[in-house]
Amino acid sequence: MRLLVCGGAGFIGSNFVRLRARDHGDEVVVLDKLTYAGRRENLADVEHEFVHGAIEDPDAVERAIEGCDAVVNFAAETHVDRSITEPDAFIRTHAQGTFVLLEAVRRRALRFVQVSTDEVYGSIESGSFTETSPLNPSSPYSATKAGADLLVAGYVHTYGLEACICRGSNNYGPRQYPEKLIPLMVLNALHGDPLPVYGDGMQVRNWLYVEDFGRGIGHVLEHGRPGEAYNVGGPDECPNIEVVQRIIELTGSSPDLIEHVTDRPGHDRRYSLSSDKLRELGWEAQVRFAEGLERTVDWYRSQQWWWEPIRSGAYREYYERQYGRALG
Ligand code: NAD
Ligand code: DAU
Repeated sequence: MRLLVCGGAGFIGSNFVRLRARDHGDEVVVLDKLTYAGRRENLADVEHEFVHGAIEDPDAVERAIEGCDAVVNFAAETHVDRSITEPDAFIRTHAQGTFVLLEAVRRRALRFVQVSTDEVYGSIESGSFTETSPLNPSSPYSATKAGADLLVAGYVHTYGLEACICRGSNNYGPRQYPEKLIPLMVLNALHGDPLPVYGDGMQVRNWLYVEDFGRGIGHVLEHGRPGEAYNVGGPDECPNIEVVQRIIELTGSSPDLIEHVTDRPGHDRRYSLSSDKLRELGWEAQVRFAEGLERTVDWYRSQQWWWEPIRSGAYREYYERQYGRALG
């Protein structure tokens, strides 16, 4: 099929484009605004057409969607810490952007998958969220993602749009921008920089290897029932401090690098997803956390060409603002 992938130059989107173009033989068009997180390098080895533009720009969307059979929307601002200090772009992209895409899809009666997050459910002390759990977001990031989910649901209900929502848990793997926990800790550990753990580090995340999320989204695109949401959770949960300790072991760095820093405001304590509904549809996560983390550390260790321009550029200013200290 000819597939429009919005936000396909980012971490998960580019892995998904690779999967669809190589394993499924799809003709892929990528529409991406190329924010700090979007990089053409992420797609250098994959055949695709590229349209540079924003999902909130109706002209760019019209150019990109021409001749497509389906649309998958990854385009988003994705870092919770940035949503706390500068929420504007989150509102524009998630609300206005999703609206513009939905209108274009509605006019053509195309199939649509909205990529969403477990964060729309908020934090859970014990047990796991199912697709019928109430939406209870905590940050400007998750609140605007939840808003986009509700808009999609409204278009399904009112216009009969053939749309599904995929709610993923914390992804990790190659090409993740080093503002997120795992790549930040791996690169800091490799450089001997301090490892900034928020609060007590006992917050728990449900880790999902990026290729497993891509396979889940593809599965929903092909087999999902229109109007339904599907959770896509990882096979393992792990407290942050343990993730950092494993990275120290894998990189051979010193535990003395760990530094407990001021906690994130409104920090969600635990995420956990039940993926039974997608499992019934035939999907299963294939990569356990121990194996995926080792692969990820190996990738960052060997792909300096990818992270060097980030780590020596505007990221340094972001890091200094966020952590109150310079990178080494
Ligand atoms: P990312 O930040 O690596 O990439 C986002 C991409 O979207 C970038 O290429 C960026 O340039 C593009 N983009 C941003 N705003 C845009 C706009 N207005 N128009 C067009 N393109 C725009 O993000 P990611 O981690 O790959 O996340 C992709 C999607 O998956 C997001 O919707 C996110 O909410 C969701 N998600 C992420 C995770 C995770 O752990 N990273 C987990 C579950 C769900
Ligand atoms: O759960 C899915 C979500 O996972 C996605 O929707 C988001 O786009 C993605 O960014 C991610 O959100 P988190 O806030 O969970 O991820 P992050 O990597 O920012 O942080 C993971 C945990 O690690 C969280 O408890 C905060 C903590 N942390 C993070 C950073 C960057 C630290 O302790 N220190 C850090 O320096």
